[in-house]
Amino acid sequence: MKTEGFKVKALRSVFLGCGSYLPKKALTNQQLTEMVDTSDEWIVQRTGIRNRHIAAEGEFTSHLAINAAKAALENAGVDAQDIDLIVLATSTPDNTFPATAVDVQAALGINHGFAFDIQAVCSGFVYAVTTADAYLRGGLAKRALVIGAETFSRILDWEDRTTCVLFGDGAGAVVMEAQEGAPSLEESGVLTCQLRSDGRHKDKLYVDGGPSTTQTAGYLRMQGREVFKHAVGMVTDVIEASFEATGTTADDLDWFVPHQANQRIIDASAKKLGIAPEKVVKTVSEHGNTSAASIPLALDSIVKSGDVKKGDLIMLEAMGGGFTWGSVLLKW
Ligand code: ACO
Repeated sequence: MKTEGFKVKALRSVFLGCGSYLPKKALTNQQLTEMVDTSDEWIVQRTGIRNRHIAAEGEFTSHLAINAAKAALENAGVDAQDIDLIVLATSTPDNTFPATAVDVQAALGINHGFAFDIQAVCSGFVYAVTTADAYLRGGLAKRALVIGAETFSRILDWEDRTTCVLFGDGAGAVVMEAQEGAPSLEESGVLTCQLRSDGRHKDKLYVDGGPSTTQTAGYLRMQGREVFKHAVGMVTDVIEASFEATGTTADDLDWFVPHQANQRIIDASAKKLGIAPEKVVKTVSEHGNTSAASIPLALDSIVKSGDVKKGDLIMLEAMGGGFTWGSVLLKW
């Protein structure tokens, strides 16, 4: 075998831009009080949520994903034809198969490269970025669209006040590109990804249906207190691992973009980690918990506002059903 001249280049994956999409229809806490026995005060006090968006009839996860993907491509200044990998995180795909990612691929007129879905519930976007990062650094693709898109309204039991007030629909996306040079604190790009799961907790947050069990999509079921109890510890574990892997601290962060499940979990995590409140991005009050879409929606809100500068250090983190949890530390 001739090995001369074969060299593996060090690569890192760089975020080029992001975009998001929310369905037009808003659902306020006040409107929810007409559907279940709840109050604006209870929801705001326990969760910080005031509003969420709900997909229209005939509007599917793929439609939200396509809109977010187009916005991300525009923000990044990248042509759809230059994308050769699509990773879409969702727990609410249009169909059991094919992957919703191939709907996005077809809608964007891309017929090269490859596209697939990832399912890690609320941690889906962190898992998807980590996957794209590995593929890009491994040389399997050059430019990736990474999307989180959900229509959780379709798997909510609208008679269960303990869950239906918490979630919403939406989508967010980022464009990532493989660039020469290893990850480093001096260059833009993903610095470290930390993923975890622990299936012993699978009954604390799950959907009570599926193709193999009930042949229905099922409804979301949650032991809210149990989730709350574990959330802060799990989140801080993967963030501390990110700091350790890169020799950074909370003071070095410019932005903390947590999964938007609950204001109390976000505030408690930031406090425990010593992250200054002005660095914490919060969109949960307006979006509710949009599961895999929540991080790219939150990220897009600060990118759109013009507050994110090249070179800013950004921490993404999420925790969700499984349990799954993880973090991504990147330089914008
Ligand atoms: N409106 C009014 N009352 C309600 C509602 C509601 N929507 N839902 C529950 N209650 C009642 C309960 O029935 C209970 O009444 P009781 O004392 O008479 O039995 C009371 O409020 C307290 O219920 P708890 O479940 O103990 O309330 P808690 O303070 O734990 O808050 C919540 C519930 C908000 C779900 C909280 O546990 C939580 O935030 N958990 C984290 C879960 C989460 O964020 N999940 C998102 C998905 S996971 C993820 O993304 C990480």
